Amino acid sequence: MFVQKPPMGYNTWNTFGHNIDASLIKETADAMVDNGLLDAGYKYLVIDDCWSERHRDPVTDKIVPDKKKFPDGMNAVSDYVHSKGLKFGMYSCAGVRPCADYPGSFDHEYLDAVTFAEYGCDFLKYDYCYKPETANGEMLYRRMGLALENCGREILFSACNWGSDGVHGWARSTGASMFRSTGDIFDNFKSFSDIAFSQIDKFCYSAPGCFNDIDMLTVGMFGKGNVGTTGCDLNDYITQFSLWCLLGAPLMIGCDVRNMEPQIKALLTNRELIRINQDEECRPVYEVRTNNWNNVHAWFRHLSNNEYALGVFNFTDGDARPIRVELFDIGLSLGCGKALELVDVMSGERFENVTETFSPPMNYHACRVFRCRIVDAK
Ligand code: GLA
Repeated sequence: MFVQKPPMGYNTWNTFGHNIDASLIKETADAMVDNGLLDAGYKYLVIDDCWSERHRDPVTDKIVPDKKKFPDGMNAVSDYVHSKGLKFGMYSCAGVRPCADYPGSFDHEYLDAVTFAEYGCDFLKYDYCYKPETANGEMLYRRMGLALENCGREILFSACNWGSDGVHGWARSTGASMFRSTGDIFDNFKSFSDIAFSQIDKFCYSAPGCFNDIDMLTVGMFGKGNVGTTGCDLNDYITQFSLWCLLGAPLMIGCDVRNMEPQIKALLTNRELIRINQDEECRPVYEVRTNNWNNVHAWFRHLSNNEYALGVFNFTDGDARPIRVELFDIGLSLGCGKALELVDVMSGERFENVTETFSPPMNYHACRVFRCRIVDAK
């Protein structure tokens, strides 16, 4: 399935792990609509691991939904999700068992693809646990890619092999629409910033058709749930969401959307950040030289319609300081007659006729994202 822009949606894993059932999915679907997430672009509601019985059906060999968690079957759930205008996503694994020890799709790819189609599934996250040692991982993703394309239903293929086997080099060729490029995210500052940094130079492999997936967001979890550790504060979540948007990564929400703080709802539906994330040209960022302090970064990205995005990040633990960006490092040479005009997408603060150097004041752990234009210097 060909997607033009980074997919957006919600996934159960980060908050709920194995604590999932039909009521949770229905309530989540309601909340996605009522809280404006669908309107903002989050259209996939994905059930992650732990949705099935421990064993395949002995007669049909199909994976069957857990009868206690989904007493009316999976179609009742997918029908409900679809009735809200959302798309329905499910989960399986290229190995013999997913990470939580349910049946995996190894050697059952074609049967399972058809089963997912029967369940009304529109998105399949395909994990990598318990892969037989001698099986070739790349081939297993190719197999499921083909099986999905030929199962009779359009299903977005979300490959999740954690960045192993040089996946950025071949994911697109399997028919996948997104590929996980890192290990699992945890709900703390170090985890998400390490994940984002590790992929800065790999976003050149992310473009319409297939996007670099740096895992589900922990924004709004505040340490609660399945991948909750110390948790983050609101500032950290603003940084996380800004990073994912600036990089053009898929946006899969991982908090409990039924109980979001108002600031989290506002952040996850921030139109300006989402507009940058979904920019139709899908160009990668590049790193701009800054003052060269450790843990201080600036990234620049070309957007459509001659607009640009500049993200400035102060990852130091205790220093509030201006970060200096030299404009010649983004190609605005000294005396070229052009200037930068910037608007902070969160605060609306404007900076006009900026030439030579841009030094926005920055708190520690803070980030600022600017939408920019290049105009004649005054
Ligand atoms: C792996 C994946 C996670 C999640 C779990 C489920 O760890 O990377 O995103 O799907 O499996 O068991």
